[in-house]
Amino acid sequence: MTRITSLIVRKDDLSQRKLTTHDAPPLAPGEALAKVDRFAFTANNVTYGVVGERIGYWKFFPTAEDGWGIIPVWGFADIVESNAPDVRVGERLYGYWPMASHLVLSPAKVKETRLTDGAAHRAELPPVYNAYARVSNDADYDPSMDDERMTLHPLYATSYCLYDFSKDNGWFGATQAIIPSASSKTAIGVAYAFRADPQSPRIVGVTSLRNAAAVRALGLYDDVIVYDDMDSRIDAAAPALIIDMSGSGPVIGRLHKLLGDNMRYTSNVGITHYDAGGMGVDFIRERSAMFFAPGHIQKRAADWGPGVFERKAFEFWRDSALKSREWLAIRRETGADAVERAFADVYGGCTAANAAWVVGF
Ligand SMILES: NC(=O)c1ccc[n+]([C@@H]2O[C@H](COP(=O)([O-])OP(=O)(O)OC[C@H]3O[C@@H](n4cnc5c(N)ncnc54)[C@H](OP(=O)(O)O)[C@@H]3O)[C@@H](O)[C@H]2O)c1
Repeated sequence: MTRITSLIVRKDDLSQRKLTTHDAPPLAPGEALAKVDRFAFTANNVTYGVVGERIGYWKFFPTAEDGWGIIPVWGFADIVESNAPDVRVGERLYGYWPMASHLVLSPAKVKETRLTDGAAHRAELPPVYNAYARVSNDADYDPSMDDERMTLHPLYATSYCLYDFSKDNGWFGATQAIIPSASSKTAIGVAYAFRADPQSPRIVGVTSLRNAAAVRALGLYDDVIVYDDMDSRIDAAAPALIIDMSGSGPVIGRLHKLLGDNMRYTSNVGITHYDAGGMGVDFIRERSAMFFAPGHIQKRAADWGPGVFERKAFEFWRDSALKSREWLAIRRETGADAVERAFADVYGGCTAANAAWVVGF
């Protein structure tokens, strides 16, 4: 009998976590059991928990315990049992998994290189999260990039969405793009994309003092400013687009006050400053909007046909991931303790800007 181990967290207090185990249920006809091999853990995953109730991230992998949930992660898994006719034991999948050792899938829409988890409770959730790449059948699959795919693909695909969205909107008339939490990988991906386009506005990274040297060393931003120096260093005379990864009320409030009418648009992308939420009185709500990458991908599928945007984003990820090997240190560890350690380290803001965790049970 297979035992499934999961790391579950209190939905209303992510500092409360525990490991649980239970027997894998017998597979029903049409189901398959995937053993999660490894997954990445970054601030993005913590944010899934922070906004879990609002955006529905707790619904992907429900737990039996009231008030507790499982945070989703991006990674690879191998099929170890199968009652699904077209899914064979030994095949490898890339996609969205629970922080757990295993997941029972109900494969649906099975194509040569993709399948969907057709579990009833996932039917209403964004399709991007329910699709799995059948990498064993993909001639372009390069296992030597597994760690970068888990760590950077979900983030750099979002960066590419943000670039595409900004360009599609004429950069909102801005001559500078200001990016708070500039040391986050999603922000760095935006910097790669903007820098590669000569038409894009200049990019100004805003970060904490402890991460400023690492961000400057990337050589990607036209300027790097620490949060405490924003008042004196931000050019308030130049029209600005803000692509915000921080979700910090104080930071965004100060920027909006400083820029006034020159704050042309703010894309609220992330919440890396988990404890500093709640936009204050200076927040210019009418020119700000939440950015949701799966929504942009669905829009582009409607504009350009299915798969076109994903292919562009995939190429962007691969090129940028290869460049990122110059600075990114992947910390790979195995075991339930390692999973808990990765969570605690990222949640506590202790993971260095040039590092990322890849772990497995
Ligand atoms: N809307 C979407 O569709 C979408 C998609 C993908 C990602 N995102 C969001 O983008 C954000 C970045 O994710 P990521 O995985 O790229 O991040 P990451 O690489 O793990 O970066 C973490 C950065 O966040 C800041 N930080 C981390 N912990 C902190 C703490 N406890 N207190 C204060 N600052 C802290 C630091 O940046 P600084 O020192 O530079 O502030 C740190 O370098 C996340 O909030 C994620 O959810 C959104």
